[in-house]
Amino acid sequence: MDTVTTIAAVREHVRAWRRQGLRVAFVPTMGNLHAGHVSLIEAARQHGERFVASIFVNPMQFGPNEDFAHYPRTPLQDAGMLAAAGCNLMFSPEASEIYPHGAERATRVEVPGLSRILEGEFRPGHFEGVSTVVTQLFHIVDPDVAVFGLKDFQQLTVIRRMVADLCMPVEIIGAPTVRDADGLAMSSRNQYLTTAERALAPTIHATLLIAAQRLAAGDAEIASIERAGVQALEAAGFRPDYFAVRDAATLSPPLPGVRELVVLTAARLGKARLIDNVQVTRP
Ligand code: PAJ
Repeated sequence: MDTVTTIAAVREHVRAWRRQGLRVAFVPTMGNLHAGHVSLIEAARQHGERFVASIFVNPMQFGPNEDFAHYPRTPLQDAGMLAAAGCNLMFSPEASEIYPHGAERATRVEVPGLSRILEGEFRPGHFEGVSTVVTQLFHIVDPDVAVFGLKDFQQLTVIRRMVADLCMPVEIIGAPTVRDADGLAMSSRNQYLTTAERALAPTIHATLLIAAQRLAAGDAEIASIERAGVQALEAAGFRPDYFAVRDAATLSPPLPGVRELVVLTAARLGKARLIDNVQVTRP
């Protein structure tokens, strides 16, 4: 695996592969990699012949009171994991390479409808930072395919819409959420949990599954399902931001005939803010 930090070096590698007619698959990350990230590289194998991963903790997608400064950074460990997973190129730029005039002064890409609901309501500007940096990374890497985790379901939805609206020639693949044995979705932010909080954390997935089971059984009382989710999380000691049943294609409240649904939640537990979701098909 080659490791590069400049846009020019990425382009040189990718151009050489293209001349050989090779299909390029890309996995963007913020580093501090775990098995969930590695699974994206494995998913990429089905769709490409050369693999690029980026590691960039993107300042534009963090709010002023969020964890940008403390976000875990483990570049050597990340490089080892990517190389072991068969990644060909790791791109880990400095902020000045991506935002030469500062993130504040950069051109922005926004998907307003999708980016202001759910996560966007509690993290204003977050998805604007994500869609902007992913656009830049797509222009730098110029991949045929890019893989994103279903763990961040709304992020994947925003990216799909952006790619469609801006006619970007990239195929977007969603890969399943990798969980610990007790159901907790793997996340770099799980490290913020104390031992006692870590023991409670799987309640998030369990609560989502209960909601999904009600929907799968034909229960149409969406408001009641959402209320029960919030109450269960509060009773377990979480501070939920939202617990919502949505149309999996649009993230709108589901109309009666819509069968493909997703239940999404975000909840604070101690210093951590955890998000998770499950998809469900109703009868
Ligand atoms: P990051 O949180 O590092 O996640 C990188 C990718 O890994 C995302 O597509 C995310 O959905 C996926 N991922 C994280 N945990 C996962 C898990 N447990 N199972 C499966 N996939 C998982 O998401 C970002 O970075 C950034 O917003 C980014 C897209 C890189 C833009 O800055």
